[in-house]
Amino acid sequence: MTDKNIESILIEKRRFAPSAEFTAGARLKPADLEALHAEAAADYEGFWAARAREELSWDKPFTTVLDDSKAPNYAWFTDGELNVSANCLDVHLAERGDKTAIIFEGEEGDRRNLSYRELTSEVSRFANALQAQGAAAGDRIVIYMPMVPEAVIAMQACARIGAIHSVVFGGFSANALRDRIIDAGAKMVITADGGRRGGSVIELKQATDAALAEGCASIEKVIVLKRTGHEINMTAGRDIWWDDAVAEQSDVCEPVALNAEHPLFLLYTSGSTGKPKGIQHSSAGYLLQAKLTSKWVFDLNDSDVFWCTADVGWITGHSYVAYGPLAAGATIVMYEGGPVYPDAGRFWKMCEELGVTVFYTAPTALRALMKFGDEFPNQYDLSKIRLLGTVGEPINPEAWMWYHTVIGKERCPIVDTWWQTETGGIMMTPVPGVTATKPGSCTLALPGIMTDVVDDSGNSVEAADAGGYLVIRKPWPSMLRTIWGDNDRYIETYWEKFRNRFYVAGDSAHRDADGYFWIMGRIDDVVNVSGHRLGTMEVESALVAHQRVVEAAVVSRPHDVKGESIFAYVVFRGDRPTGAEAEALTKELRDWVGEQVGAIAKPDDIRFTDNLPKTRSGKIMRRLLRAIARGEEITQDTSTLENEAILDQLRGLA
Ligand code: WT7
Repeated sequence: MTDKNIESILIEKRRFAPSAEFTAGARLKPADLEALHAEAAADYEGFWAARAREELSWDKPFTTVLDDSKAPNYAWFTDGELNVSANCLDVHLAERGDKTAIIFEGEEGDRRNLSYRELTSEVSRFANALQAQGAAAGDRIVIYMPMVPEAVIAMQACARIGAIHSVVFGGFSANALRDRIIDAGAKMVITADGGRRGGSVIELKQATDAALAEGCASIEKVIVLKRTGHEINMTAGRDIWWDDAVAEQSDVCEPVALNAEHPLFLLYTSGSTGKPKGIQHSSAGYLLQAKLTSKWVFDLNDSDVFWCTADVGWITGHSYVAYGPLAAGATIVMYEGGPVYPDAGRFWKMCEELGVTVFYTAPTALRALMKFGDEFPNQYDLSKIRLLGTVGEPINPEAWMWYHTVIGKERCPIVDTWWQTETGGIMMTPVPGVTATKPGSCTLALPGIMTDVVDDSGNSVEAADAGGYLVIRKPWPSMLRTIWGDNDRYIETYWEKFRNRFYVAGDSAHRDADGYFWIMGRIDDVVNVSGHRLGTMEVESALVAHQRVVEAAVVSRPHDVKGESIFAYVVFRGDRPTGAEAEALTKELRDWVGEQVGAIAKPDDIRFTDNLPKTRSGKIMRRLLRAIARGEEITQDTSTLENEAILDQLRGLA
């Protein structure tokens, strides 16, 4: 990373303070936040121990707070025992058993509400079914489901018996599913016949069958929810319908008391190599921060209806759909389908009809919806919304202002939340009743979170607006514990750069004169497409797996809806395709990548070239490729290029 890349470019002067009215009703007032920060600064472990005792219900209280004996593999509350599902469900039964936990809406408009009592019964019944099918604590179970209540029921049921779930986003392909099943050594898959999105059926069972056709020897059972009702194949002895699995089961299932460090789930995410990494999270530490941040950041209380639009296939759908808000006793909305189905008013119509008060989505969704104009949101009554949030990438000021004026009617604070699959919960964000916001900044760290910006030698960058590496100086309870099956990669990816002194997030950032953080982008070969993380290597390996591709290099370029899009340079076997042939092959390769990884990984641009620009020592000149993809001036010395003549091909001029 050169200083030049990381120099700050974004300067945003506007500030928006929360209204006195919002602050008056907020859970955290300025003095509360200040007290929490002071407590964490004075006694870091004591601060987290106090939160863990207040927020969680323990079967066996802990006496150890932070165990750093195996640093940087930190462990929290190590001698305590609890059950995550009991902390999300059973704890509410006495006080709010009949309160709605989940309001579900299918893409076709079907609705279903589940109270905390009903949800507890469904989770218990399914947990019993899992046990009857042979699942036990520690087994890995892959969940490949549409966004229906059963996805959350399946996750909570795993948690109830101590099985480790690994949710695979329904948009991932059969190949991606297979890789994850194999890496996790999963025993079961929980899936559905299909799900609905954008007016079509997602063939989940078909993809599962394709995934299991090769190399998934660990899988013993497949549980299939009937969602769409269309015809699918069932394999005798392996596949069982969800309804049949639960039919004879009791709706009482005693939650298993598990060690605080028992892995709650694995969630695969992209890194700088071609192989996705299974991020491993704990039980107690993870739940603590998912719950705390649901209360602190989304200000949830008993009258709120909270809608986080993320799919449970991403970390956001774990922490702010399946776990955090339920632990906080909130009512959540779950929606199965696409944001523009049947039109771009769908989200806003649902906000009106379901009485959504707190809405959390991604900048890419806002940019996509913004394009359809204000008339869609303006058709609906959005007056119940009191708080808005974003996550996934830096929000551009234009989208921020649209969110603020057209959706929030200038009344609602916007919480721009920075965090990662690895951090488990929100790390930096405005606290809605306290922090004045600036469009594009995630503002400041939450109490107990010690983020910093450092230079190449690991020294804090003090100067305002100077960039550096975003790091977290102290371990925190919901941090990832390791990468499943590859602790060396855990250490190498997150710790080695500064010799285990602090967690390296992989983002570059700077702070302004008020100490506010501004995220500038990734420092590794990770691209952010529509708020979803993809490794450039992952796409490159998919491309070279095509029999006619010799070599490929993938870079990103800015995209006005997706944030970033994928640009691939491809060397083909034989003559370089041009004209109509190139067009046909572009389509073929896009579909190919879609099959190998999933639709989100399809390159927007593919450029065929005779060879890739390399230095004389054989290194691909990625910076050059990036500049060309972005249509930027080439400032780099190209005299070291092995074949200078290809520059015109790379530019698409020859
Ligand atoms: C990466 C993590 C955390 C859930 C969604 C993505 C980027 C995330 C923000 C934000 C600027 C952000 C970072 C981060 N990112 N939130 N508010 N402002 N950038 O999870 O797939 O693990 O990706 O998303 O680059 O490192 P993820």
